[in-house]
Amino acid sequence: MAFIYDEPAHTFSEYLLVPGYSSSECIPANVSLKTPLVKFKKGEEPALTLNIPLVSAIMQSVSDDNMAIALSREGGISFIYGSQTIESEAAMVARVKSFKAGFVVSDSNLRPESTLADVLALKEKTGHSTMAVTSDGSKNGHLEGIVTSRDYRISRMNMEDQVKDFMTPVSDMVVGSSDITLKQANDIIWEHKLNTLPIIDKEGNLMYMVFRKDYSTHKQYPLELLDNQKRHVVGAGINTRDYEQRVPALVEAGADVLCIDSSEGYSEWQKRTLKWIRDKYGDSVKVGAGNVVDAEGFRFLAECGADFVKIGIGGGSICITREQKGIGRGQATAVIEVAKARDEYFKETGIYVPICSDGGIVYDYHMTLALAMGADFLMLGRYFARFDESPTNKVNINGTYMKEYWGEGSARARNWQRYDLGGDKKLSFEEGVDSYVPYAGGLKDNVNLTISKMRSTMCNCGALTIPELQKKAKLTLVSATSLVEGGAHDVLLKENTSSNYPK
Ligand code: IMP
Repeated sequence: MAFIYDEPAHTFSEYLLVPGYSSSECIPANVSLKTPLVKFKKGEEPALTLNIPLVSAIMQSVSDDNMAIALSREGGISFIYGSQTIESEAAMVARVKSFKAGFVVSDSNLRPESTLADVLALKEKTGHSTMAVTSDGSKNGHLEGIVTSRDYRISRMNMEDQVKDFMTPVSDMVVGSSDITLKQANDIIWEHKLNTLPIIDKEGNLMYMVFRKDYSTHKQYPLELLDNQKRHVVGAGINTRDYEQRVPALVEAGADVLCIDSSEGYSEWQKRTLKWIRDKYGDSVKVGAGNVVDAEGFRFLAECGADFVKIGIGGGSICITREQKGIGRGQATAVIEVAKARDEYFKETGIYVPICSDGGIVYDYHMTLALAMGADFLMLGRYFARFDESPTNKVNINGTYMKEYWGEGSARARNWQRYDLGGDKKLSFEEGVDSYVPYAGGLKDNVNLTISKMRSTMCNCGALTIPELQKKAKLTLVSATSLVEGGAHDVLLKENTSSNYPK
């Protein structure tokens, strides 16, 4: 007879945290959100640690190189989506790894023959008043000079006047060489009272611009996640089909960690993929696996050598897997059971395999609940899709700005590698939808707000670290009736009230 669980599976909204004693040291500023990303042996440090427990989902509509840079600046990481060609995924990873904070590829470029009219048109288009003049007008052409608003006066000049006659020529400028650090560039900027320092290679071709204002911005990222060469840390999604080609390309491009992206991870396909990676690279390539929703699935992937295990089937906001196939499990119950299995595995083997709760986070407080239930970090799609940095279009729908957000199992993404179980290399039916989410602005402000709520709740539970939260947290199920009390109730809300968190 089939196995039938005694208890129903619960989701995050059905739980609350019961506060514990908070000492006077328990203040948000003292909370550390550091958490392991990959497995480690008892007494040792993990090879990769996150500074905040958030990673962005392996999805076309969420994680490209732009998102990866923005999130790593705040202390988390992105997993670049795998449902694209190997070349373009590797190129995205390479762009993150070669991105030098504060070193900007020039987006406003002119030719020496460009006219004052061209200068004004470009300024209007980009909003930038500093423009590079290169031999061919390209971003990496031979640097000839620079034009700023100090170089021209509209009232005294003709629109046809050529840039080469009024620019500041490179011979009169201070420039930096390509091996310069941001600190050195900043010192030169201060010493010579510059606003901009162009960086050129040995042949005199323009590589980057360093702007005075960007150095102070750079300092605004205290939790920035960098590797030992001060490059941004980035992850990348892989699948169980083309790993023999995709993994080497991503490793070569500099990916710090990989993750097998699958809607259902308790499979021989994942075992084969993990084995191939271990045989070829040993432990030097870090790779997570998933998704699973019970202890059995976790143990299987841990024993196959996964560096972390991802939990969640059917709970994602764009997910229709449960409706289509009838598989899945309430996310809270899945996290609680897998966390227990992780702790048992640690006791038995001395190996700690971090677990990631993936999908189904609706409110910020769900994140703290998931951590309290035992998750080491969280993967989010909808949350990040709402920000400026996500790769999708921002559209105006009936006066409200929205961002597009679609599932990897939707016809739009056509990610058959994630869903097809060794069949016919196509998406036979959809497991995800194409949707809009309310536009929420920039990543930095939103993540900082979320993190401040997390820190505050942790203090209410008397915890200064995530492991401490996991030990001390007291969680209670809420009855259907008391759920009503959770939001504002029995009052008439005024317009624009903030008590309804924008989903
Ligand atoms: P969200 O944070 O609730 O939006 O969930 C994001 C997660 O949903 C991803 O990390 C995936 O695990 C999962 N997911 C992505 N695309 C699909 C899909 O098309 N169907 C089902 N689940 C999906």
